[in-house]
Amino acid sequence: MPAEILPTHTPALLAAAVDRAAALLRAGEVVAVPTETVYGLAANAFDPEAVARIYALKGRPSHNPIIVHVASAAMARSCASRWPDLANVIGAAFWPGPLTLVVPKSDRVPDIVTAGGTTVGVRWPQHPFMQAVIKACGFPLAAPSANLANRLSPTNARHVLQQLGDVLPLIVDGGDCNVGIESTVVDVTGTAPVVLRPGMISEPEIQQVARGRCPSAQEREPAGSEAGVLRSPGQLVRHYSPRTPLVVWTWRDEEELLRQLDAAGIPPAKTCVLVHGRIPMSGQFPHVVLIPDDPEAFARALYAELHRCDETGASLIVVEALPEGPEWSGILDRLRRAAASD
Ligand code: TXA
Ligand code: MG
Repeated sequence: MPAEILPTHTPALLAAAVDRAAALLRAGEVVAVPTETVYGLAANAFDPEAVARIYALKGRPSHNPIIVHVASAAMARSCASRWPDLANVIGAAFWPGPLTLVVPKSDRVPDIVTAGGTTVGVRWPQHPFMQAVIKACGFPLAAPSANLANRLSPTNARHVLQQLGDVLPLIVDGGDCNVGIESTVVDVTGTAPVVLRPGMISEPEIQQVARGRCPSAQEREPAGSEAGVLRSPGQLVRHYSPRTPLVVWTWRDEEELLRQLDAAGIPPAKTCVLVHGRIPMSGQFPHVVLIPDDPEAFARALYAELHRCDETGASLIVVEALPEGPEWSGILDRLRRAAASD
C-alpha cells in the first residue's frame, strides 16, 4: 500500500500531521519527516528495534551511524555522557539549525544508532514540524536522510514517495526544504571543532564561534578517534548521487562546452546543463537549468534539479564549476561526491 501523505500548510493540518506521526513513532514505526535540510526517515532513537527498521528500509550499511534529532538543549544533553564546552558554545550559536554536533554518547542511546561507536551525532532542527513532533513524542528521533543508500537525498515529499513510498506508512509533507543540503557535522569531542561533513554553516563560521574558548583539561583528547567506526560515513566517496553520471566543468563559451561534450561522446540533446554564469543560448541544449549564483539559493535548488535531471533520461549532467569560498564548500563537497565514479 502506498504511504499516506499528510500536508502541513495550515495550523490545523500541521497539528493533525504531528498527532498521526507521533502515534506511529510511539508505536515503533518509521515515518518520513521534513526538516530544513533534507527529508528524514525518523524513528524513536531510544528504541533499537525501531532504529533497526530504518537501516533495513534504506539498505543502509550497519557501520554508518545515524543522527539523533532533539527539540531542546536538555534533550540534547540527555543523549550525551558529557556535554563539552565546545558543544555549548557552537550549539548556542547555530541551534536550532542545519548543524550536527558529535559528542560522547550516553548509555540511553542504543548502540545501533551510533553503529557501535562511543559518540553520537545530535541535531536540533529548525523545521516547525520537527520541533512539534519531537516535543509531542517526548523522545529524540533518529533520522538519516529519507533516500535509499547512496542515492540523492530528498528535498520534497514527492522525492521520498518515489524512492520509499511503497514501504512507509506515512510521509509528512512539509514543503520544499529551505536549506537543501545535509547539515554540517562537527566533532566537538576534542580540543578544537573538526568539521566531518561540510554544510551551509561553514567551517570559518564555526571556528570563529569556537575561538577564544579555552578547553578544560578533561577535554584534551583527540577528536574522532573511535576505532572501527567511520569518522563520518558521509565521507564515503560516492554518495549523494543522482543516477545520471555527473561532471563539473568550466568553459569560456558555448563552443568550448560543445567541444568537451563531443570529446566525451555525448550529444547536447542527451545532456542536462546546470549553470550559474555561462548560459548556453544557442538552443542546442534542451535541458539548461539556471541556478542562482548565490550559495544559499544554489543549495536550496540543487537536489531538486538533480532529481529532475534524472527524470529527463539524460546521459550526462554537466554542472558549471562553482565560485571559490568557504560558503560554497558544502555544495562543492556534494558535487564532488556526486561526480565520483563507483
Ligand atoms: O541534515 C541532515 O543531517 C539530515 C537530516 C535528516 O537531519 N540527516 C542526514 O543523515 O544527512 P545521514 O544519515 O544521511 O547522514 C548522517 C551523517 C553521516 O555522514 C554520518 O556518518 C554522520 O552524519 N554521523 C552520524 N553520527 C555520527 C557520529 N557519531 N560520528 C561521526 N559521524 C556521524
Ligand atoms: Mg544521507
